Amino acid sequence: PLDTAAQVSQWVARYIADKINTFQPTAEKPFVLGLPTGGTPQKTYQELIKLYQAGEVSFKHVVTFNMDEYVGLPKEHPESYHTFMYTNFFNHVDIQPENINLLNGMADDVHAECERYEAKIRQYGKIHLFMGGVGVDGHIAFNEPASSLSSRTRIKTLTEDTLIANSRFFNNDVNQVPKFALTVGVGTLLDAEEVLILVTGHNKAQALHAAVEGPINHFWTISALQLHRRAVIVCDEPATQEL
Ligand code: GLP
Repeated sequence: PLDTAAQVSQWVARYIADKINTFQPTAEKPFVLGLPTGGTPQKTYQELIKLYQAGEVSFKHVVTFNMDEYVGLPKEHPESYHTFMYTNFFNHVDIQPENINLLNGMADDVHAECERYEAKIRQYGKIHLFMGGVGVDGHIAFNEPASSLSSRTRIKTLTEDTLIANSRFFNNDVNQVPKFALTVGVGTLLDAEEVLILVTGHNKAQALHAAVEGPINHFWTISALQLHRRAVIVCDEPATQEL
């Protein structure tokens, strides 16, 4: 735990940069990084951009896989996770376009799209570090309550709670929020060599409690990280209120 959300962003950005630098990635042996969207990681991306601008890290040989995407939003839509990633991060660093992997929520065959994504991850062997956030209800990526803990990338129906939480990005109109998303599975996340979860704010206190003090269960999918050998939770003080 750190005191503030700003400290969480700085710590996580530095941690990721150090991981990449220690790995010494090359074109043949890239560093494979899993990435989230959301309000929580936004500041971490700003910190990573600062480190890049200071010459302290390069993303030239980093391959990224984003964890999820809404179904039915064109990638140009201002609220697509595609747009979020380019606006908040990719446009500002030296990542190679061919190294960016995002789920296509407009695919005609979403099942084939999810299989393609899993196959692409397998092609690299594994994801070295998966950064993520958590939903108020304890979901990781879009693995909503009652997701299988061995799930792979697939389409999920978003819960009413998630639709309401995310309506803040859609003119506060819950009807404008896409009802489905493509998401990596809990199993996909557990396969990563290391998982780093950012938890900030008192509205995430229950999710943090479920993550570390609750039983492993498929309603709070973040609790599955208790099964992981290297799962790190970085949180701020307000998020610890239920511990
Ligand atoms: C969405 C994303 C999750 C994210 C969650 C919390 O549901 N699919 O990956 O962790 O929102 O987002 P925020 O950081 O904005 O609270």
